Amino acid sequence: MVELLHPLLSNLNPDTGLMDPYDTHRQVRLGDMPNHYLSGHLHGSSALNQDTVLYEVFELSVPEKAGDMIPCSTILHPGLVGDEFFMTKGHFHKNREAAEIYYCLHGEGLLLMQQDDECIVKQMNQQTLIYVPAGWAHRSVNVGSEDLVILAVYPADAGHEYGFIEKSGFAKRIFSNGEKGYIVK
Ligand code: F6R
Ligand code: ZN
Repeated sequence: MVELLHPLLSNLNPDTGLMDPYDTHRQVRLGDMPNHYLSGHLHGSSALNQDTVLYEVFELSVPEKAGDMIPCSTILHPGLVGDEFFMTKGHFHKNREAAEIYYCLHGEGLLLMQQDDECIVKQMNQQTLIYVPAGWAHRSVNVGSEDLVILAVYPADAGHEYGFIEKSGFAKRIFSNGEKGYIVK
């Protein structure tokens, strides 16, 4: 017999990204990303240490089966590692048929999406909705001075594959231009 999930309700604050209630809260620290930034951990970033929280993800837990969807918020803090802006690890979905919807609630960011040799960069500002098609790796980057807050909804059986991006990165990186802007290289 199929067990039906009961409706879930949470309050998602669009300015802070906090969800109440939530089931899981993941904090990603600089020390969790030893291979993602070009400059390595602490080079040129005296205000940072291994425990610096770069971003946080709140989720409602939903059974990981086809047909269900997971709602979550990401809060990507502002800052630089060397001259690269704080970014998420980035991943493919293990299930390459699983797409995702991103909706930016607060802040200024970029969403990198990559498939084979193609890497597309889209701007995210408050109210930007981006459909990440199945098969595209995705990474958020905070290029602003406030928290970047995103609501994402994805298939509960998507799964996450981090290894390829950790090893090979994205074809484009986002650097500070030394003032308030960014450079894509
Ligand atoms: C879920 C998704 C987002 C990210 C979150 C953190 O499929 O794309 O909720 O999980 O923004 O990024 P990662 O997972 O790359 O650490
Ligand atoms: Zn995803």
